[in-house]
Amino acid sequence: ATADIGVTGLAVMGSNLARNFARHGFTVALHNRTTAKTTALVDEHGDEGDFVAAHTPEEFVAALKRPRRLVVMVKAGDPTDAVIREFAPLLEDGDVIIDGGNAHFEDTRRRERELRDQGIHFVGTGISGGEEGALNGPSIMPGGSEHSYESLGPLLERIAAKAKDGTPCTTHIGPDGAGHFVKMVHNGIEYADMQLIAEAYDLLRAVGGYTPEQISGIFRTWNTGRLDSYLIEITAEVLAHTDAATGRPFVDVVADEAEQKGTGRWTVQTALDLGVPVSGIAEAVFARSLSGHADLRAASRDLPGPHADALSGRAAADFADRVEQALYASKIVSYTQGFHQIQAGSDAYDWDIDLGRIAAIWRGGCIIRAAFLDRITAAYDGSPDLPSLLSDPRFAEEIGAAQDDWRAVVAAAVAGGVPVPGFSAALAYYDALRAERLPAALTQGQRDFFGAHTYRRGDREGVFHTLWGGSRDEVDAG
Ligand code: 6PG
Repeated sequence: ATADIGVTGLAVMGSNLARNFARHGFTVALHNRTTAKTTALVDEHGDEGDFVAAHTPEEFVAALKRPRRLVVMVKAGDPTDAVIREFAPLLEDGDVIIDGGNAHFEDTRRRERELRDQGIHFVGTGISGGEEGALNGPSIMPGGSEHSYESLGPLLERIAAKAKDGTPCTTHIGPDGAGHFVKMVHNGIEYADMQLIAEAYDLLRAVGGYTPEQISGIFRTWNTGRLDSYLIEITAEVLAHTDAATGRPFVDVVADEAEQKGTGRWTVQTALDLGVPVSGIAEAVFARSLSGHADLRAASRDLPGPHADALSGRAAADFADRVEQALYASKIVSYTQGFHQIQAGSDAYDWDIDLGRIAAIWRGGCIIRAAFLDRITAAYDGSPDLPSLLSDPRFAEEIGAAQDDWRAVVAAAVAGGVPVPGFSAALAYYDALRAERLPAALTQGQRDFFGAHTYRRGDREGVFHTLWGGSRDEVDAG
């Protein structure tokens, strides 16, 4: 056996990951259900490093040095279980199976448990950065046992993206499903980032009166400041692109129905189960679903909107700067919500996740990579037990400085009839957290009224109920 690692499943992500390992000097065993892909990979890229092409699962396993490290890059769901069923009987105590697909963390927990009984270490790994990242350096989020990371970590650290300070964008996230959980929340934040950017574009166009070309320029400028990030950078590219067939801006010819593969939805479903308010991420998921309801939208097109003059005079010269403030403040909120969810998941599943490390490994390689993540790392480095990102003095100061413009932008959007669910949900979250008193007290009163659901008081201990149907006396319900 000569191979340091093996990759089975050689579609684009799998092939690129295999090539990345080989380019870093590792000998890589290759396997695919149909051997044509294996042969093609060796034919086209065999000169990039040392590959061992295996034609059967037995050959593949025999090619791997012990403890064996076997990366599965097949479609998430049943195909992953099928591959595990095929390979697990061929493996021995201490071997490691790595699932690099976008699996649901509950599936990962189950698979880890089942394989643990057979002495096999299962590592559910989030990999972000798309095809390009897989080849040139992704952000890698492995879960699983300490033992598995000892064996696998050094390889992952070699092939992962490097942050500007040279740190590899990977770390042992935590046991069993922790890696896939963190990748899931990464994608939720990715949805929120994309939605906020889309709202900024929509406002600049509808209220500010800028063309896509001009907005591309505005995004390019933003990308040199605190919003510096991969998603802002590619947004500028997309907005500057012209459709060859019609000569119109590309963004005007694409059907305005956003699709999704499901990880953003999982984030929100899980957040509901954990009781974490990820309203910004949820609005981003709902905005995609709303856009896809073409019939509903067609049937609603004639509903009355604001009078035409509601828009006029709102686009002051500094409107773009104000939108930047609103975007930045909303971004702080969506990361606050995402990190809250990771903390809640870590508590619920005993993962002991280091939030500062998560921000650090998202600084390079992944879709949400951004200069901003340095600030999050710094915030958690300074105080690892930060109750919320908003409690960090620097973020608090920045959001405080942005809030007047943020409110003005949301107000302009509301007046002009431009939907900004992301901006406004973020602002509502911020104001709700700040509030001295919330109307939740009234909700409790209603619950007690119609269902005797009881309430607690702010001024003394205990559980109480008011006899709403009779004397309205308060009784001890503890
Ligand atoms: C990444 C991405 C990736 C995701 C796509 C598509 O981190 O590289 O998150 O894993 O699959 O972005 O996601 P949607 O189809 O749900 O938009």
